[in-house]
Order: sequence, then structure tokens, then C-alpha cells
Amino acid sequence: MSEAARPTLQSQDDSARSAEAGFLWDFWYPALRSREIRGNKLATAMLLEVPLLLGRTTDGKAFAMRDSCPHRGIPLSYGRFDGKTVECSYHGWRFDACTAQCVEIPSLTSQDKLKVDRVFAGHYPCEERDGYVWVYMSQRGRAMAENVPAAPKLPVFSEKYKITHLACELPSHVDQGIIGLMDPAHGPFVHQSWFWRSRHSIHEKQKQFEPIPNGFRMSPHSPSSNSAPYQLLKKMTGAPVTTTIDFVLPNIRFEEIHSGKLWFSSRATVTPVRRDLCRIDFVAAWNLFFLPTSVFRIFGEKFLKQDQQTMVQQAEGLKHSPNLMLIDDADRPAKWYFALKANLLESRRTGASMQHPMDGPVTLRWKS
Ligand code: FES
Ligand SMILES: [Fe+2]
Repeated sequence: MSEAARPTLQSQDDSARSAEAGFLWDFWYPALRSREIRGNKLATAMLLEVPLLLGRTTDGKAFAMRDSCPHRGIPLSYGRFDGKTVECSYHGWRFDACTAQCVEIPSLTSQDKLKVDRVFAGHYPCEERDGYVWVYMSQRGRAMAENVPAAPKLPVFSEKYKITHLACELPSHVDQGIIGLMDPAHGPFVHQSWFWRSRHSIHEKQKQFEPIPNGFRMSPHSPSSNSAPYQLLKKMTGAPVTTTIDFVLPNIRFEEIHSGKLWFSSRATVTPVRRDLCRIDFVAAWNLFFLPTSVFRIFGEKFLKQDQQTMVQQAEGLKHSPNLMLIDDADRPAKWYFALKANLLESRRTGASMQHPMDGPVTLRWKS
């Protein structure tokens, strides 16, 4: 193979592999929690099957490089970091952490013509927000994506609030994780508990949905009357409670609850790590003075564990490639998700603007 042919073949392999994996590139994904990077310590993570090296420079700027030396491919995470440059453990090539540009190749003599500054390791735009290190997974890797949008931010509605983070891994493809997240019909079966609801409280519901850019919204409504926490909130403020839930590509569910001056805001993301592994990152903030973080975490963890256990069991079944069904209306949000994803990929392929699968507000009915 000629020197020049190699990168091309490599990138064709990469894009074929990732197309088949069903990942959405050119979006922000949370790689890890901010607190997992301390001082000059390097951290590693994986997003969309790309191994990443993460750190923070002495100036406090988080960075994300592909965890692979462009010389012989050894993970750069075995190397050293001095707060500014990452040094490979194999032959000591050094890279600027923020640009991934090579700054030194120790073996070169004064006779060598190789332009060190033309050598780059892979790197990705990186931002810290809401306690996470976000990485913009640009498919073109080091050819730093232009027009990178701002990283997602959890909406908050007062100066003072509590905030907490939860996470859990699911042994599933990201699509299964996402349709699990937006599935209205599993609640009474998977999340049975005295404080929330039981299978006996199942009743018919109807909710209005509307299209939003790259996603859909469950229009502002009064939440389910069979949930104790909402009842409590209403009693506290005397004001009506409204909930709005948005789903936006590639993987984000936002929920906002307001009652008078009190609010609760949460965001769940389902992030593809590998094609057989994804992770839910859940962050919630609120100014409900009567809700201590510790109490919220107990319930939140229980919820996530229930979902996790279900997904572990489902993965057992999915190993045997069964035929699956999506039914109306309870699985309609899942259908919209798949259509949004397909339409986005199609619009990127053709350059035409993206078709939205909904042509206006829709009312869905189901029992849960
Ligand atoms: S493999 Fe990294 S410097 Fe050679
Ligand atoms: Fe659930």
C-alpha cells in the first residue's frame, strides 16, 4: 500500500463501519463527568466506538484527542501530560493538547525534512457544561468541524437551585436505549412502586405532540394525576402544574415542570459508547425547597436501576435477532425517532433540507 493511499482506505473503513453501527455523527455527546479529570491527570472515554483521551490544560481548558498516536497507534493515554502537551510513551512525539498538532519528534536530526507541524493526532471540539465534558463527534475527526453549535445546556429558572447527576450503562444499541427512554407504556410495569404508581392505576391518557426542529415536543400539559409527587407540588403552590417534554436528536430528552415559581428541569441523554453499549446520563436541577438532593437520588437511582434491569433482560432476547413491532399509538414516538434519524441522514447525504416526519400537532392516546 502506498503511503498516500493509506489514510483514504482507513477513512472509508471508518465510515462504512460507522454507517452500519447506526451512530449519528456531528453532534455533542457527554464523554464523562467534569470531576473525573483532576489536575494533570489524563482520562479516557469511548464515544461512538472512538477511544478518546481527555484532560484539562493548566489554563483550565478541557480537550479531547483520539486516544491513538498517529505514528504507530499506541494509545496516547499511556504517555505523559505536562499541562500543555501530551507526550507519546513509545517514541516521545509530543502534541499540543488543544490542537493535537505535533510539536516535537525527538528522533529527527537537522538533516530531516519532515515538517513536524503538519503532523496531527485526531482531536475533537470539547466543552464543559452542567458538570460534563462534552465532545463534538465530528465524523471528519481532526479536520475540525466548522460551524460547531453550542454544547447542550440544562435550562434553569432561578439563581439558586439544587443539581444532581445520575448515570447508568445499558448493554444495548443506542436506539433501544432511546426508544426505552421515550416509551410511555412501560411505566406501570417496570416502575411499579408505592410512591409513583402501580399497574392498577393504569388509565387512558391523551397527550398532544408537536414537531420542533430535529425532534418533537409533548405539548405543555398537567401531568398524570396518579403520581404522588405532582399532587404534592400542586398542594404546595396552589398553582397549576405544567410539564413539557422534548426529544431532540441525537439523543436528548428534556423535561420541565413548572408550578408557580417552583420548577424542576431535567435532561437525559442516551450516548452510544459502542454498538452494544450505551449510557444514560441524567442531570436534574430544581428549586423545590422541600426536595433534598439525597431523597431525589434515592428515587432517581431506583428508577434507573429498574430501566437498566429491563434493558439487560431485553438484551438477552435481542441476541437472537427477533422480529420486533412498533404499535400505535404507544410506540409512535419511537417511530418518529427512527424517521427523524433517517431523514437527517438523508438530508446530509443529499444536501436538501430535512423533512420532518410530523406535519403538525398530533394527539396520541394510550393507557398507562
Ligand atoms: S507510536 Fe507514538 S511516538 Fe511512535
Ligand atoms: Fe423507564
